[in-house]
Amino acid sequence: MCKLWNSPVVHSVSKRQMQHYRGTGSSALSTLQYSRTSRTKAHTSVRHFFFSVACTKPSQQLQENSLPEERAEPPKMRKVRSRLHVNPLSPEFAALPAVPDWSALFEDPTKPLHVDLGCCEGELLFALGPQQPEMNYVGVDIRERVVDRAKQWAAHLQLRNVSFVAANVQPGTLPHLFQEFTGKVRILSIICPDPYIQKRWRNRRIVKTGVVDDIASLLSPGGEVVIASEYEEVASEMRQLFLENASFRLPGSTTYESDGAPAWEEYSPFKELTARERTARFANNPIYRVVLERAA
Ligand SMILES: C[S@@+](CC[C@H](N)C(=O)[O-])C[C@H]1O[C@@H](n2cnc3c(N)ncnc32)[C@H](O)[C@@H]1O
Repeated sequence: MCKLWNSPVVHSVSKRQMQHYRGTGSSALSTLQYSRTSRTKAHTSVRHFFFSVACTKPSQQLQENSLPEERAEPPKMRKVRSRLHVNPLSPEFAALPAVPDWSALFEDPTKPLHVDLGCCEGELLFALGPQQPEMNYVGVDIRERVVDRAKQWAAHLQLRNVSFVAANVQPGTLPHLFQEFTGKVRILSIICPDPYIQKRWRNRRIVKTGVVDDIASLLSPGGEVVIASEYEEVASEMRQLFLENASFRLPGSTTYESDGAPAWEEYSPFKELTARERTARFANNPIYRVVLERAA
């Protein structure tokens, strides 16, 4: 039995959940972050536990039962209250963000970059960063407080290839943010960027024609876009918007349904799931995922 199991830290995680994390080697935050307990002290410890696991190799995750000494204390952070949903079309978010100093964000800014739009607290990047030190990762999210917290975690974990930027992704935002970026963007992900699933709120969604055009200009030829949603209609719309742009195509490995429609990708190419994807997996709900290539 896991040592942590007996500590107050893990009392708020069910045995089934823990087995799931250990069994799958999943390495980031628990779905608890979306639960009402998310602001409790216990949750902070659980969160810290998963971040600590995130910084171990998958094989170590199965063997090590105790927290590394140097990560036993989470950083001192004020409690962050952030609205779950904000309206990106509100005047509050109209101003363009400051242009990042890319050379200060990463230890080696020349490494190929993975951009995660709508990253929330950056769980995916915290999992991938330590696993793939040859890449840099930047998460972009509209909610500044959430981004600030992710930045603090990255600093605490001393991850020099993971960084975060607060920005409202609209047509024109990405060219503005990346105007001084001189490296190569190899991967761009947009995972479960909802919650604007109602048709009347369609214009609040991240993926729209102008944003797809910006992504086409940003991505290096041969680069990859990974999009996913818990909602088939949202995923279909995103796929269609990308395929309407001549710069994007489905890769040769795509399989097709009997009616000729491209099949949804069952597995994430990142081999790590975001918080939303894990929530869906727990509930046995599907994720509608698409991988696209930026044509050379
Ligand atoms: C449902 S969460 C998904 C988070 C994460 N990708 C996952 O799969 O767990 C969607 C995130 O997108 C962010 N978001 C929504 N609209 C955005 C916009 N226009 N620009 C940047 N971020 C946005 C929200 O703040 C939220 O954190």
